[in-house]
Amino acid sequence: MNDFSKWKFTRREVLKLGAASAGALAAGSLPAAQITDGGRKPVNASVAMDVNGTPQNVTLDTRTTLLDALREHMHLTGTKKGCDHGQCGACTVIVDGRRINSCLTLAVMHQGAKVTTIEGLGTPTNLHPMQASFVKHDGYQCGYCTPGQICSAVAVLDEIRNDIPSHVSADLTVKAQFTTTELRERMSGNICRCGAYSNIVEAITEVAGSHA
Ligand code: FES
Ligand code: FES
Repeated sequence: MNDFSKWKFTRREVLKLGAASAGALAAGSLPAAQITDGGRKPVNASVAMDVNGTPQNVTLDTRTTLLDALREHMHLTGTKKGCDHGQCGACTVIVDGRRINSCLTLAVMHQGAKVTTIEGLGTPTNLHPMQASFVKHDGYQCGYCTPGQICSAVAVLDEIRNDIPSHVSADLTVKAQFTTTELRERMSGNICRCGAYSNIVEAITEVAGSHA
């Protein structure tokens, strides 16, 4: 059993010790690495990728997510940070033709990749068909989830066209279908706190019609 009797502190002394530690931290007299990662130093790396058709070359901490690389280093803030934990889909981008949660992947893992964000799909004067359909069907309210929804929806239609099954594909021997059930399932990783789901499905369904 531990013997704590040798530690004799008054309450005032304990408070003083706490204040002194906080002061040392604030003054920077304790190295940050010692506090945050057991002494390991950050490592920087140079990462090159094609983002929306533009070559990007950034030097960043190897722990930087693709989401933060896009937003903080390339200043492409269309891609949104919702949960930063892979749970909401607000950060969805298309990497080498597949949609991913950019908050769950490190930028250094995508050396040489082709990345498409919402900024690369269309422009205000020349909307991508999916963007135009979201506008037409009121597929958003606050709009925070919308860039992720649209990137996801564009990739979903490619997934169905490429006959990639989902959890609700009943018969794997027949080609994947553009059904509402399929669209809802495939879009289930994109959360909309405003609850614009029915309009989102209508928007995607209209574009899917031209893909079917
Ligand atoms: S911010 Fe990436 S899934 Fe929520
Ligand atoms: S439109 Fe507001 S969260 Fe989806």
